[in-house]
Amino acid sequence: MNRYVITLFVLILVTAVTAQAKKPEPPPPPEDGFAGTWIAPDEADIPNTPAGDMIRYGKLLLTETYKYLGAESAMPITGNKLACTNCHLDDGTAAYGGPWSVVSLKYADPGIFSSRTNEYRNVPVRINGCMQRSMNSIDSRQLPENSYEMQSIIAYFDWLVTGMQVDDWRLVEGTGFVKALPDMDRAADPVRGRQLYEKQCLPCHGNNGEGVWNPDTQAFIFPALWGPDTFNNGAGMYRLRTGVRFVKGNMPYGRADATNPESLLSDEDAWDVMSYVISEERPVFVNHESDWSGVGPDDVPNWMKKRVDAGYAIYFPRSDYMDYIAACSTAEPDTSYPQVFTAAQHKYGPWADMLQLQKDIRAAYQAKCLPAP
Ligand code: HEC
Ligand code: HEC
Repeated sequence: MNRYVITLFVLILVTAVTAQAKKPEPPPPPEDGFAGTWIAPDEADIPNTPAGDMIRYGKLLLTETYKYLGAESAMPITGNKLACTNCHLDDGTAAYGGPWSVVSLKYADPGIFSSRTNEYRNVPVRINGCMQRSMNSIDSRQLPENSYEMQSIIAYFDWLVTGMQVDDWRLVEGTGFVKALPDMDRAADPVRGRQLYEKQCLPCHGNNGEGVWNPDTQAFIFPALWGPDTFNNGAGMYRLRTGVRFVKGNMPYGRADATNPESLLSDEDAWDVMSYVISEERPVFVNHESDWSGVGPDDVPNWMKKRVDAGYAIYFPRSDYMDYIAACSTAEPDTSYPQVFTAAQHKYGPWADMLQLQKDIRAAYQAKCLPAP
């Protein structure tokens, strides 16, 4: 080997070693997941005005959340060490990576009704939902709506929406995550999931799901998946049917490309590996007892709409469900009655029987207790 070849060898080796500690660049997507319906606006075009400053500051809050809003910051709100963009990838501009491309329009006032919290969610309410759950905020704190910080995040979202290339936000592709995976007819298996985890995820997220923290930037290189520094059990990511869609389309990071099915985990592997992640210990959402309480604007009790895979608190349905229909009762679930399905089945599936029963209960309640539409 001549000197040149050896130098090249060493160079490649050094690059390989340093690359391990750095986040790999995702491969260039072969296809545009937004299919031209939305194009990320160019940051160079953000004006040097106070309004432009807000957009830039909003982005910083979302990408360096711990530094600006973490427990040790001047404005302590978030209770874990995640950044919003650990789940909303590429600064909220990744197709099928939970992009914020159209949230300003989707949650325009009065917002979208949520049976989980029995309220209409406009943009700031939606942001605070992730604050309290995904970011496990301290004592369930919220970012005040009139704060410069909240207004800056909203300004960043408003700026993102200027990338829309179609008339109606509903036509924008690549929003949310990949489409729902078909439910399996068995329970997801955390034991098999652990084996997959060790091969596919552990090199970045760690043996104990602790991730890799960079003390200089006060941010994760690889975020924590369980333990104290990540999302709590009230978060969307904790619901298996939601979390699996994130993992399917985006993990392993750098390899998965939502527009290329061959780069993705099989459905079965995605279910099992994510079931392992949520089987480990994590923060408990302080207000989880009140989720799905109250009665929605359609006069149906919210507990009848509880997500089947929300794995905590007042599981739906309980053995006395017929009494609610018979009495047209809007009372909260009576937890002295046993659940029809076990907590484990709610968490890991299979869900077909649950979904059917839930549908039947709602239909029976509507038929007996509400005027015909
Ligand atoms: C642990 C992962 C995670 C983190 C961290 C996170 N989110 Fe989310 N976020 C989600 C998931 C999952 C959803 C979708 C929930 C669902 O479908 O039920 C979501 C949805 C949203 C939406 C609505 C998007 C849409 O298209 O409807 C907004 C806005 C949002 N998050 C903002 C934030 C902000 C702001 C932060 C930081 C303060 C944040 N999120 C942190 C996981 C996360
Ligand atoms: C090559 C490194 C790498 C591998 C391998 C990897 N991830 Fe990730 N993961 C990341 C990075 C980086 C992020 C955050 C992305 C960002 O901040 O832009 C992330 C984010 C996540 C998140 C959301 C944030 C959080 O903390 O909850 C989940 C869940 C997740 N990964 C699960 C998995 C699972 C399950 C696997 C295995 C199938 C996996 N990842 C494999 C690097 C990796």
